[in-house]
Amino acid sequence: MTAFSLPHLIGIEGMDRDTITKILDLADHFKEVNQRAVKKVPALRGVLVVNFFVENSTRTRSSFEIAEKRLSADTLNFSASSSSLAKGETLRDTARNLQAMSPDILVVRHGAAGVPGFLSRHISAAIVNAGDGWHEHPTQALLDMHTMRENLGSLEGKKVAIVGDITHSRVARSNIFGLVTMGADLHLAGPATMMPPGLDELGVKAHHRIEPAIEDADVVMMLRIQKERMGNDLFPNDREYFKYFGLTEERLKLAKPNAIVMHPGPMNRGVEIAPEVADGDQNVILEQVGNGVAVRMAVLYLVAGGGLLSQKEE
Ligand code: NCD
Repeated sequence: MTAFSLPHLIGIEGMDRDTITKILDLADHFKEVNQRAVKKVPALRGVLVVNFFVENSTRTRSSFEIAEKRLSADTLNFSASSSSLAKGETLRDTARNLQAMSPDILVVRHGAAGVPGFLSRHISAAIVNAGDGWHEHPTQALLDMHTMRENLGSLEGKKVAIVGDITHSRVARSNIFGLVTMGADLHLAGPATMMPPGLDELGVKAHHRIEPAIEDADVVMMLRIQKERMGNDLFPNDREYFKYFGLTEERLKLAKPNAIVMHPGPMNRGVEIAPEVADGDQNVILEQVGNGVAVRMAVLYLVAGGGLLSQKEE
């Protein structure tokens, strides 16, 4: 295995195909580790990882923690409600205090876009973005691409539909950058109020109806409506949304017969996805969650410098 390292992981924007491929290949290796009887390697022994989560999270936070433990890192969890941010401390002061504990890696989730980038300029730890506002969610896009690659063999030329609240979704943004770079044929669909302008310039096709987006697709990825990031209601109600944009069994027949159905979670059954589809044969939603651990192990390993494991294996 060739060692290469990432200084930080702030986003997928600007990441080249080689780097994405290397991360996905390394995740394959860690997936194999996760199937062993003893699911632990010493790669990050002596490395302190601080998980700084200032926004709710279930899957992302727990899979980062599992990934850190499997790499033998020391971990500290720091959340909004238990931290002094809730007492009015500025982000910069919190960052300086975190820095004083000399973490090697800081995994950050924050409701404001740009916070991981800001922290990367103010503290010396390697920063891993675990989702910042509307901006990016790079490890989610990597685990999504990993799941697609596992199921489809490669991403090149595959038709991928992403449906829902594209404007407010950091998952969509990171996937757009990654999938375009990997050569996928990307189609986005959502109500006009949830589709940002300028999508064509990014090399993707925008639709205002779900049907043309999912027709003959290899992958159908459904997104939650990010109500917490909307000023005003951008659609009449959940029932109406489901009627026009919900993924039903009937609509899924438009996609290729072996198409996979994805969702980053949390799912709103009966809003963006019918329960029968969420639990149906084509869904790989829990595979995505499982792959999240291996992909995050790969990312943590690479930002930690990549030294130990490659020394052992080369
Ligand atoms: C997403 C997130 O938080 O951006 N979830 C996740 O990390 N698995 C998507 C969402 O909240 O809808």
